Amino acid sequence: MTDTANQPPENPSRRGFVSALGAGIAALIGGYPLIRALAEMPPASMDVSEEPWVLLVPAGEVETIAPGKPKRADLTRVVAERWRVREEKVALYVVRGEAEALTVFSSICTHAGCVVGFEAKENRFHCPCHDGYFGIDGRVLDGPPPRGLDPIPHRLTEAGLEVRFTRYRLDTAERIEL
Ligand code: FES
Repeated sequence: MTDTANQPPENPSRRGFVSALGAGIAALIGGYPLIRALAEMPPASMDVSEEPWVLLVPAGEVETIAPGKPKRADLTRVVAERWRVREEKVALYVVRGEAEALTVFSSICTHAGCVVGFEAKENRFHCPCHDGYFGIDGRVLDGPPPRGLDPIPHRLTEAGLEVRFTRYRLDTAERIEL
């Protein structure tokens, strides 16, 4: 016969740890199909447009873009969201800088993805969501955006200014293409 009365009581924190570990393992085993299903789900939003290069500004209009006066142009993309496919309009800004070089910026704020607008009077881009400000050259002037506006790859062809719309990860200092 064993004398349990003289045995030291089991450490409650150890007992708690062992139970938690057991519950964790059980949840992992039980939840594996769910975890797998989640991993195989398509990303929340994915650009599935067929044409990578799209005409943004026709040839005749490109010359009319004046230095320091960004031109807003909308692009239609096809986006798959989970199991739904829809069209989405994305605004881009074409900026002619000094030396006549063109830059195309995404209007998607690099902080949390709101749409920035151009304030002609102040000569800057403004994101209304958390008061982020960007210069006409895209760099951050003020507010929470972790990096400047994202430049969009572009090229000049006989047809005009074409762009290859690119999305980048939000809220990171580093520019990471999605
Ligand atoms: S989303 Fe633009 S500043 Fe936050």
